[in-house]
Amino acid sequence: MRQAGSAEASTEVEIIRLLRETHEGFTSGQTLSARLGISRAAVWKHIEILRKAGYTIDASPSKGYRLSEGKAPFNGVEISAGLTTEFVGKRLHFFDSVESTNKKAFELGRAGEPDGTAVVADAQSGGRGRLGRFWVSPPGVNLYTSIILRPDIEPLRAHELTFVAAVATAEAVRGFVPRGPAVKWPNDLLMDSRKVAGILLEMDSEVDRVNFVVVGIGINVNMKSTVFPAELRGKATSIMEKTGFEVKRTEVLRALYSSVEVWYKEYMKEGFAPVLNAWRSFFPSEGKRVKVKAFDREIEGICLGVDQGGALLVRTPSGGVERVVSGDMEPGRE
Ligand code: BTN
Repeated sequence: MRQAGSAEASTEVEIIRLLRETHEGFTSGQTLSARLGISRAAVWKHIEILRKAGYTIDASPSKGYRLSEGKAPFNGVEISAGLTTEFVGKRLHFFDSVESTNKKAFELGRAGEPDGTAVVADAQSGGRGRLGRFWVSPPGVNLYTSIILRPDIEPLRAHELTFVAAVATAEAVRGFVPRGPAVKWPNDLLMDSRKVAGILLEMDSEVDRVNFVVVGIGINVNMKSTVFPAELRGKATSIMEKTGFEVKRTEVLRALYSSVEVWYKEYMKEGFAPVLNAWRSFFPSEGKRVKVKAFDREIEGICLGVDQGGALLVRTPSGGVERVVSGDMEPGRE
């Protein structure tokens, strides 16, 4: 399938939109050709491409074309056809499989792709997690996406985008599981203490300016816990495990892009404070005992929340307050 950002694929995106406008009915080849400004033969060629991509499109010589709304495929055309954002995901690179969408997005960022460009894959062969971990990325069930952002900020502030992504992802997931997720500092999303989504930020920068940031987001959408590798069972969950029914990945992804756009714009306009406030509303650990593995130390104590820079504050048994800027937090012993 051609990438949804390309000119040819945008014709296919338009065809899907136009066929959906007529709901159950047929749309004539004449109408499609007039609306798209291409010949009827070209319309037919694009219809063939869409069929190969998994759409069922009936054709009648007298009535035209009709899209049969069964199980829509998961691909770039389908994602773009219903996307309502201004710039996040507007340029979309879809792959059936890549090593890592973050790696791909990084390459595209270096090649100059604009703010908001997104990479999506149905599967990853080398999905990357935080702290050098692996992100389980089988096909057909979950979401793996990376968004290139080009904020005009100093590299020292780039970690704030981790919180932007966490809030955006939490709100998107909450649209499908009303009880919503909780954040585990800094940016894991949990439901009933099990991980439903993870975020990995990578950055390309000069000493004093960010060239671009890649925001990688993985959401477990329709994965069954029995399919998770043994070491993750009991630690991971999915949206479906909470709702009891399958959720359309395309819908979750569109909601995610909208939410990322809203929060990224808010961050660029109003700064970090409103983002952090929203983040706090998803953070249940304040006042609770926590254990934090920081770069060079392990700290146990009572979580005092986060400071205005997003660093975790922990009151230790000695009465002192430790400030942790990067690390891994676990709920500690009660
Ligand atoms: C974590 O919680 O450890 C972060 C996981 C981030 C996974 C996503 S999936 C899409 C993107 N591509 C990657 O290789 N990683 C991120």
